[in-house]
Amino acid sequence: MKRIRVIFLLGIIFACQNDKNTPLPIIPGETPGSTSPVTPGPTASICDTVSISFDKSIWPIVQNNCISCHNATAPSGNVDLSTYDKIIPYVKNGKLYGSMMHLPGYSPMPSATSYLTSCELIMVKKWIIGSYPSGTILVDLKPANPVNPIITITKPTTPPTTNVVCNPDTVYFKQKILPLIVSNCAMSGCHDAISKKDGVILTDYTNIIKEVSTKNPTSSELYTSLLETGEDRMPPPPMAGFSKENIAMVLTWIKQGAKNNSCEASGTACITINMSYAKDITPILQASCTGCHSGTKPQGAIDLTTYANVSKYALNGKLYGSVAHLAGYIAMPSASVSISSCEISKIKSWIDSGSKNN
Ligand code: HEC
Ligand code: HEC
Repeated sequence: MKRIRVIFLLGIIFACQNDKNTPLPIIPGETPGSTSPVTPGPTASICDTVSISFDKSIWPIVQNNCISCHNATAPSGNVDLSTYDKIIPYVKNGKLYGSMMHLPGYSPMPSATSYLTSCELIMVKKWIIGSYPSGTILVDLKPANPVNPIITITKPTTPPTTNVVCNPDTVYFKQKILPLIVSNCAMSGCHDAISKKDGVILTDYTNIIKEVSTKNPTSSELYTSLLETGEDRMPPPPMAGFSKENIAMVLTWIKQGAKNNSCEASGTACITINMSYAKDITPILQASCTGCHSGTKPQGAIDLTTYANVSKYALNGKLYGSVAHLAGYIAMPSASVSISSCEISKIKSWIDSGSKNN
């Protein structure tokens, strides 16, 4: 439908009426009645989430999806989105993003049953994160107090931290051990709270610590089960065993007192620019996800070991929605376990720059 409308726009002219019988305003820079080709808009087949500008990326989205109701003449809900200046207050109060993303607490737009495409949503998100620069045509308004709705909406309880640097020699439970154990041991049928195979639950600190002896670290069940052979080895064949590095890490954590500790690198310690699928994203998925999301029967029938699959979930919003524990998505790795906020930011940054196979 949207594609049809764009072809309609491309092929015919802008003075015509859209399917809601409301005159569409003219795309900035275009002459009414001109049949010259239009710069591909966001709904064209190319998803350009790299070079975002208001004119090229955002304005066409609003024109195609919102102006029919939110025009200056008779704005629905008294929300007028007919110019850059009119749109900005809805960016600042989070409503533009909240309504487009169908976040709880906002009226879903364009309607409860229709969504913008994920490409369009990524563009809007990126434009907002870039502090909503205006285009060349519309008034240049410098935001006095730029907000990042991703942070204010999804992580309202996380206080801002400044440049926390973690001790590289410490194995932190929350960031290193918990995701590893949950993703390799706590899938359904094994050591989740419902299946609790052999009476062992490995979903949280309280339960994991039951398999640990800090007095005699090398005799800890959590450690020895990784070293067994045959059926006794954990995770059992045909699942892959832990790597040497991960086995050593588990032992180090136990030797360091098997503490329920946590350290989130932040500020300059968490680098989230120029994310690479191979170097930055794959290791996160391998540490926290592919234990469940791989093999012949991946959990939720979702295999996250190939770029083709991961990019599919990046584009439909589920990868970010699930790791950021957004409403409307199934929280991953679990409702009580999150990957670190640095890792979430890395995934977001990679998705925002077009989830490339780089
Ligand atoms: C079919 C008409 C229609 C379309 C299309 C439409 N809206 Fe709305 N919108 C409304 C109505 C009616 C309201 C007020 C009632 C309500 O809040 O549900 C509203 C309210 C809003 C609000 C205030 C939301 C809130 O939670 O207070 C925002 C922001 C908004 N729209 C943005 C958009 C955007 C962005 C688009 C395009 C992606 C869009 N609308 C498309 C009819 C529409
Ligand atoms: C302990 C096993 C387990 C781990 C670890 C795990 N998942 Fe899942 N995941 C599941 C199961 C089971 C489902 C299907 C749940 C359902 O449909 O109710 C699922 C569903 C999903 C979905 C679909 C979500 C939706 O809203 O439809 C995505 C995306 C996903 N997982 C990504 C991830 C990512 C990314 C990670 C790592 C950060 C991860 N998972 C870690 C078991 C796991």
